[in-house]
Amino acid sequence: MSDFRFEVKARDASGRIGKLTVNGKTVETPAIMPVVNPKQLIVTPKELKEMGFGMIITNSYIIYKTPELREKALESGIHRFLDYDGIVEVDSGSFQLMRYGEIKVTNREIIGFQEEIGVDIGTFLDIPTPPDEPREKAARDLEITLERAKEAAEIKRMAMNAAVQGSTYPDLRTYAAKKLSDMNFEIHPIGAVVPLMESYRYRDLVDVVIASKLGLRPDRPVHLFGAGHPMIFALAVTMGVDLFDSASYALYAKDDRYLTPEGTKRLDELEYFPCSCPVCSRYTPQELREMPKEERARLLAIHNLWVIREELNRVKQSIKEGTLWELVDERARSHPKLYSAYKRLLEYIDYLEKNEPVSKASAFFKVSEEAMLWPIVHRAKERAERIAQKFPEMINHPIFGEIPKYLSLSYPFAQSEGEEEFTIEKPRKGDVREYIMAIAEYQFGEGGGEAFKDSFVELSRKTGMPRQIKAKGKHLATFRAEDGLLTLGIEGAKRLHEVLPFPKMRVIVNEEAEPFARKGKNVFAKFVIDADPGIRPYDEVLVVNKRDELLATGQTLLNGEELSIFQNGLAVKVRRGIEK
Ligand code: GUN
Ligand code: ZN
Repeated sequence: MSDFRFEVKARDASGRIGKLTVNGKTVETPAIMPVVNPKQLIVTPKELKEMGFGMIITNSYIIYKTPELREKALESGIHRFLDYDGIVEVDSGSFQLMRYGEIKVTNREIIGFQEEIGVDIGTFLDIPTPPDEPREKAARDLEITLERAKEAAEIKRMAMNAAVQGSTYPDLRTYAAKKLSDMNFEIHPIGAVVPLMESYRYRDLVDVVIASKLGLRPDRPVHLFGAGHPMIFALAVTMGVDLFDSASYALYAKDDRYLTPEGTKRLDELEYFPCSCPVCSRYTPQELREMPKEERARLLAIHNLWVIREELNRVKQSIKEGTLWELVDERARSHPKLYSAYKRLLEYIDYLEKNEPVSKASAFFKVSEEAMLWPIVHRAKERAERIAQKFPEMINHPIFGEIPKYLSLSYPFAQSEGEEEFTIEKPRKGDVREYIMAIAEYQFGEGGGEAFKDSFVELSRKTGMPRQIKAKGKHLATFRAEDGLLTLGIEGAKRLHEVLPFPKMRVIVNEEAEPFARKGKNVFAKFVIDADPGIRPYDEVLVVNKRDELLATGQTLLNGEELSIFQNGLAVKVRRGIEK
C-alpha cells in the first residue's frame, strides 16, 4: 500500500496551498505536472526536476502498447525508465479513447500494468464525457466510469486518480463527485474539460468545476485534467483546483507558440520578449526565428515551462498574501471569455463564502466593480446588517456605504483601499466597550458581544487603538491591530463558551486529544469529531470535548465542514489550553 497524504497549509479564496506526499516524495500544491511523452522528450524528465517540477505525468497506455517501451518499463520500473526520481503519475489511455474512439486494453489490465511498472499515482480507465453530449449518453457513460471506479478501488494497491465525469450537466458532475468521494481514492481529476478550454469556454468550465467541487470531499486534491495554460491558473486555483498538467508547453513550442500569463503569442508576432527567463534574456525573437526548428522548439518549450512555473509561484504568493481575488481580477482582463468566467464564478457565493478566510494579511483593494461581489465583501455586508440591529449608530464608509460605527476598526472596513481617502475615528474611553461588543458579535455570531458586556478596554497610548480587554482584573482578549478582530484569552474563551449555545464556534475533539489540547498543544484534524458548520477559515474557535467542556482556544485553518472531514494535518493552532 502506498503512503499518500494531503494537508492544507494556507489558503485564500477557495484556493489552498497544500502538501502532497506519496511514497516518501513531497510536492507543494498547487502544482503542475509537465506531460512527458515517452516517445519524444524535448525536455528530459531530469531537466524538469532541475527546473523545480517535482511531479510529472506520462501515459501508461502509450508505454503499454509500444513493445520496446513496455519491455523497458517493466524491466527497470517507471522511475529508472524515465530517469526521474520525483513523483510519477500516469494516465490510462482514457484521453486516447476520447480522441480516437477506441483503445485496446481493459480497466484491470491497465491498472495492473501501472502497478507493475511502479508508478506513484495511477489512473483507471474512465470514459471522458465531452461537453454537450446528449444527456442519456453522458449518463450511460458515467455509469460505466463509476463501475470501473468500483473495480479499481477494490483491486488497487497504489494511490489513484478517480476522474469526475458528467459532461456539461452540473447535476451529473455533482452526482459523480459524491459517488467517487465515497470510494477509496486519493486524487480527483475533473475530466473531459480539454474541449472547453480549447474553445475558450471558460464560463462553462467554471460551472463544471464548481458542480464537481460541490460533490467532492474537501480533503482530496483536485486536478484539472489537461489544464496547463498559465492564463487560467489563478481562476482555477481560486475555485479550489490543486493540480494541473501541461502538454501545451511542448505542443505549443513545436508550433512556434509562446505562452504568457495573459494568453498565447505566435513567435512571429513578437518584436520583444515580455519575459526575462534564461531563454528570453539570452535571445531576441528574431534570433529564435532564425534557428533550426528543433533547437527553437526546445528553447520555446523551456520558456513555456518558466512562465508556467512563474505564474504558479505568483498564485501561491497571492494565497500567502491574501490577494488571490486581486490576481484573478487582473487576469480576467486578458480575455473577454475569462472575464465572463470570473463573473460567473462570483455567482457561486455560498460555495465561495464557506471557504473564504475571515481575515487576510493584506488590505481589501477595491480594484474593480466586481471586487464588491467578492465573498469577503458579501460576508462583511451581511454580518454588518445583523450588527446594525443591535448597534444602530451608523457611519458612511466610502467603499462599503453605511456601516455600524462600531465595526469601523475591523476587517475589511478599516483595512481597505478605494479611490477616496478616509480616516477612521478613534474610539473614546466612553464608547470603546461598544466597539469590542460589536466586534465580538461580528466575529463570533449572535450573542458573542454578551461575553464582553462588563469589560474594560485599554487604549494604546501610542496609537489610540484598543489593546488588551479585561474584566475583574482578568485578561479576556486582545484586539489585533492588524485586522481589528479579537484573539481570545482563556477568560474570554470561557465567557464565550458560556454565552454561545452549543455547537457555536466549537471544534469537538475526542478523548485522545483532550490532554494535549488542555496543555496548549495543537489539535490535529484526525482527532476532530465534529465542528460548528458556521466556522470559517482562520476563525478563533473553542476546542471542547464531547461533553462540551472547554479544553482550549486557538485559530483554525479549516472551515466547519472540513474540520469534520479532514484526517491529515493541523486543525487548530492552539493558543491556550485550559487545565482541569
Ligand atoms: N486527460 C484529459 N482529460 C481526461 C479525462 O477526462 N480522463 C483521463 N483519464 N485523462 C484525461
Ligand atoms: Zn521567457
